[in-house]
Amino acid sequence: MYRTRTCGNLRLADEGLVVTLAGWVQRTRKMGGMTFVDLRDRYGITQLVFNQEVDADLCEKANKLGREYVIQVTGTVRERSSKNKNIPTGDIELIVSEMNILNAAVTPPFTIEDETDGGDDLRMKYRYLDLRRNAVRKNLELRHRMAFEVRNYLDKQGFLEVETPVLVNSTPEGARDFVVPSRMNPGQFYALPQSPQTLKQLLMVSGFDRYFQIVKCFRDEDLRADRQPEFTQIDCEMSFVEQEDVLNIFEGMAKHLFNVIRGVEIKEPFQRMTWHDAMKYYGSDKPDLRFGMKFVELMDIMKGHGFSVFDDAAYIGGICAEGAATYTRKQLDALTEFVKRPQVGAKGMVYARVEADGNVKSSVDKFYTQETLQQMKDAFGAKPGDLILILSGDNAMKTRKQLCELRLEVASQLGLRDKNKFACLWVVDFPLFEWSEEDQRFYAMHHPFTSPKPEDIPLLDSDTGAVRANAYDMVINGVEVGGGSIRIHDSKLQDKMFQLLGFTEERAQSQFGFLMNAFKYGAPPHGGLAYGLDRWVSLFAGLDSIRDCIAFPKNNSGRDVMLDAPSVIDDSQLDELCLKVDVKE
Ligand code: AMO
Repeated sequence: MYRTRTCGNLRLADEGLVVTLAGWVQRTRKMGGMTFVDLRDRYGITQLVFNQEVDADLCEKANKLGREYVIQVTGTVRERSSKNKNIPTGDIELIVSEMNILNAAVTPPFTIEDETDGGDDLRMKYRYLDLRRNAVRKNLELRHRMAFEVRNYLDKQGFLEVETPVLVNSTPEGARDFVVPSRMNPGQFYALPQSPQTLKQLLMVSGFDRYFQIVKCFRDEDLRADRQPEFTQIDCEMSFVEQEDVLNIFEGMAKHLFNVIRGVEIKEPFQRMTWHDAMKYYGSDKPDLRFGMKFVELMDIMKGHGFSVFDDAAYIGGICAEGAATYTRKQLDALTEFVKRPQVGAKGMVYARVEADGNVKSSVDKFYTQETLQQMKDAFGAKPGDLILILSGDNAMKTRKQLCELRLEVASQLGLRDKNKFACLWVVDFPLFEWSEEDQRFYAMHHPFTSPKPEDIPLLDSDTGAVRANAYDMVINGVEVGGGSIRIHDSKLQDKMFQLLGFTEERAQSQFGFLMNAFKYGAPPHGGLAYGLDRWVSLFAGLDSIRDCIAFPKNNSGRDVMLDAPSVIDDSQLDELCLKVDVKE
């Protein structure tokens, strides 16, 4: 037996026991005639003691141990004289009588400590060592527990986990596909699924009624903190349901996860907001509702007073930051610089402080009477000590998005984005289509299988852009943790949808004929949702990037620097696949 206990479970009650442990050497310290070694495994750290006077040879051997050596020790559990309150095993130590070096180790390129000296790139290259660190390992343990609880919840609700293939055809979710050449079908390619969307709909046609899968999805898109090219969905589909049924089940899952994993009781029902309101009041389809600062439109009050920036604007809107009138000129200038950065794109920012006597002092005082400024103050419901920040622009949607960035920045500065506070929200009634100026055509905002709201069907031809979808996203703290829709189950309506999306009949047939044909054989009304597991875990772990809860993630260029993937392949492999590579500079 390599071990009788782990490095994490010995306590004072075990005093006097003779045990065998195995693990990695975290560090060694020599103090007088004693050598102390911290032995680590997944479960914790146990202090080992070697005494020069009792066994000089053994102590000598311990002095030669290098960091990350793998060893096995046998010894007696003893109460420590100086206890370490920071670790669960801190009351005891192991007086070692025997030691076996199971494997020597070269010195790791960074310290395996909570506060490591390794930079990002180095830790990614040696990810297997990074994973030995507490912080990273804890994230994966959390991930496991969450996936386990998801299965538990869905199983109780009658969902069946069904695996769908990874080598498929393109399923459009708005990103590019990763493709895989087929040797047996020269010149032809599989696509890796962006999601199992069409397959789960086919499972509904097959009568599975309630399906789920914790499944890898692949999307070739630009990476961000909350996006990886391969990520994991908790993908679900249900038959004979309306939107309300789907929202209930997945609100229940969210509640369950909050309860069992975080010990937090989340209030139900979750707040709901239409996409239209989310854009109007927060400039985002995923508003962070941990704090207020709802947008107030000021066109009626602020236009026509001779301030040309506002007079010429199509949109003027602002936010009120409670108690922030103490912002200094320097801080306000920095905020102005923030909104002028190319990533935000505003031309400038106007500010107004509500002073202790209720008077408003603004950066554009010379254009406005105190009376107008008071009207503005009242529009926000602002109080003495508050700070009003205003942006304007010639495109309402763009300006709202800029104001959204400003709102988030100010909230961060004011410490309002507390990672231990959770604001859950359903965003509903998304538009069915999204117009692309660049391509001069409509795209499906969610995906082409999303059902329009029945009452909006008459608008499909006459006012296509105004048609709302039976589509919904769950948003927590400004993160889209999931999204779904009620699907079209009528092949005629699906044909119409493809036509509006500019598919020729042949293209619709060749890409989605299998689905449209299946619908002819009795498709039940159905709908579903997919949660992003990586996003849920990083939300619960308070991480800034989903990368930290993925065992082997890709870097920002989509590379796995540890495996050195992607990489070139042999000419013989290319020949076999009938491929020629022609990389242009
Ligand atoms: P959607 O495209 O909204 O819907 O994806 C569902 C959820 O998956 C997560 N997600 C991602 N997580 C990490 N990295 C990415 N690149 C990434 N892309 C998406 C998000 C998102 O909310 N088939 C539909 C679902 C349905 O209609 O049932 C779909 O894939 O949390």
